[in-house]
Amino acid sequence: MLALAPMNPAPNLVLVGPMGAGKSSIGRRLAERFGLAFFDVDQCIIDRVGASIPTIFEYAGEAGFREHERLVLADLLAGEKQLISTGGGSVLHPDNRRLIRERGFVVYLKVGVDAQLKRIGNDKNRPLLQRDDRRQALQDLTALRDPLYREVADLLFDTDHYTIAEIMAELCSRLSTQWQCHRTAP
Ligand code: S3P
Repeated sequence: MLALAPMNPAPNLVLVGPMGAGKSSIGRRLAERFGLAFFDVDQCIIDRVGASIPTIFEYAGEAGFREHERLVLADLLAGEKQLISTGGGSVLHPDNRRLIRERGFVVYLKVGVDAQLKRIGNDKNRPLLQRDDRRQALQDLTALRDPLYREVADLLFDTDHYTIAEIMAELCSRLSTQWQCHRTAP
């Protein structure tokens, strides 16, 4: 684990990182551990639109999906005492990156392409992976997005060789010393 910033007393914990990094499963556990409300941005989009992610991509395109993502993220980040698990492409929009940094202590969960293929290689719910050259697609996404995840991150954790229990133990210990939930409203 690499500490990227000394201290950021933010009102929310935010998980960023690529598909298959474990943002939702780790996010749920961290939320419970730190007494935060858990929100998964993809699930919030599904609830708001009333359609699955593949259906949104099919009818509104990726641009339409990104707009829903931007609105959901802005709504969530206005609140506090939340663990927000973002979708892998949330960092693409500069407004999202600015808000994520302003309103969150940000953990970048990193994962290599081999582990991604093992974890989500056959997933049908991720439109960007519905192609034959999945390895290449994931490599291209990593090249584009890794600098953006790093730009917003307070902490980086490479999940490749660790179990969820090990990741949890390390993150809990780091977060207890580096993050104090800072409330902005009474
Ligand atoms: C996406 C990641 C997905 C979901 C959508 C697009 C991406 O979320 O938002 O399929 O652009 O990487 P997860 O990172 O939770 O899989």
